[in-house]
Amino acid sequence: MTRNLHQLDQQHVIHPYTNLAAHRESGPLMLCRGEGVYVFDDEDNRFIEGMAGLWCASLGYSETRLAEAAARQFATLPFSHLFAHRATPPAIELAAALADMTPPGLNRVFTVNSGSEAVDAAIKMVWFYNNALNRPDKKTFLARNRAYHGVTVAAGSLTGLPYVHNGFDLPRGTMVHHLSTPHHYRYAEPGESEEAFTDRLVEELRATIEREGAETIAAFIAEPVMGAGGVLIPPVGYFEKMQAVLRENDILCISDEVINGFGRTGELFGCSRFGFQPDIITCAKQLSSAYIPIGAVVAADHVYNALEEYSGALGMFGTGNTYGGHPVASAVALETLKIYAERDIVGMVRAREPQFLARLAALSEHPLVGDARGVGLIGAVELVKDKATREQYPPEQKVAAQVAAACVNHGLILRPTPGDAVAMCPPLIISESELDALFDALTAALDDVAARL
Ligand SMILES: Cc1ncc(COP(=O)(O)O)c(C=O)c1O
Repeated sequence: MTRNLHQLDQQHVIHPYTNLAAHRESGPLMLCRGEGVYVFDDEDNRFIEGMAGLWCASLGYSETRLAEAAARQFATLPFSHLFAHRATPPAIELAAALADMTPPGLNRVFTVNSGSEAVDAAIKMVWFYNNALNRPDKKTFLARNRAYHGVTVAAGSLTGLPYVHNGFDLPRGTMVHHLSTPHHYRYAEPGESEEAFTDRLVEELRATIEREGAETIAAFIAEPVMGAGGVLIPPVGYFEKMQAVLRENDILCISDEVINGFGRTGELFGCSRFGFQPDIITCAKQLSSAYIPIGAVVAADHVYNALEEYSGALGMFGTGNTYGGHPVASAVALETLKIYAERDIVGMVRAREPQFLARLAALSEHPLVGDARGVGLIGAVELVKDKATREQYPPEQKVAAQVAAACVNHGLILRPTPGDAVAMCPPLIISESELDALFDALTAALDDVAARL
């Protein structure tokens, strides 16, 4: 039966982010059930899900309250929508709960089905906003190299990772300027302090605005901690100084909280942890602990007011998805937010963070590890050939992928990222002993790979 499924997979499934040719040979790692922070494959081998799936299953795999919330809503009203003045109780309550959680001034919620859709919706809102203000040329975006903002045509264009662009004709040239990656360990000049590095990046922002003209740039989009690009934590003062320049130039700031949001960094939102005040937040993933697809854009009042007025003039805010604000997804997300509040998810992450950072710091002694970094419960180790010069292994050796594969042999799922790093982002409910087991398995995997390099 299981063999049959493997064969069917290889015959019929188009896997995202997969070398489809190689998949013919390797087949899938098929996960069949979950329990707490663990998932089990089709031979019942157990793995710590050290990535919470795709940075998303914050409450682990056994949260029955979410299943019950879905079942209740399925039984009550399994579908309705928000088009043309319709509403449902869970969609309204979810919007109010999100507005309560997000920083002051961010009070207007537009619900979608994924992170990419949230970013696309934010892009459209920004364009609509500038048309509302009669600024028809203020339309391009500033993003950063190695940023991940999704895969849809517009969001994928803002993403700053070549593997998302390669082979696809995304219209990035017309809509985005990519700035340098704020990762001090890899991109600082020799001897350059974090402050000096930040100042150089801020200078680049100023120069870009001067070159392009502030009247052409609509918004800056950033993940507070870059996730898929390799868990890159901004250098000191980065967002504060960037934000000052954006404000001087009337450029909106979008905090892409699809990974950072809902406690991951030890604050409810990454923008709070890193001290900036966005005009728009995009979120998804942990919004429902990933139990059901849902994402949202939360817009500041001053952005929303322009949308409202202009939609009156045009006759419509002409965008929306059939399933945006789906009542079952909204009910599950609402229950997730209730659980976060009741269990003090931020306090839980803060309580676990010292252990997480201490175990990461210990890993920086490992001969393969050049940089070990983290905040809250998200982190990474960046692998190097030479710790002193920070020289990396040739990309074709795929050392991070080797470590991730070795982790699987030790019962742990982690993820290789660009820049030869291995990311970790466990469920936020991970216990002290489970977190120790995660690091023990990673250490063993690093030892295995170091021994054969
Ligand atoms: C910061 C960020 N934005 C957007 C997305 C896209 O989300 P989705 O995969 O739900 O479309 C992701 C996904 O990992 C993300 O990390």
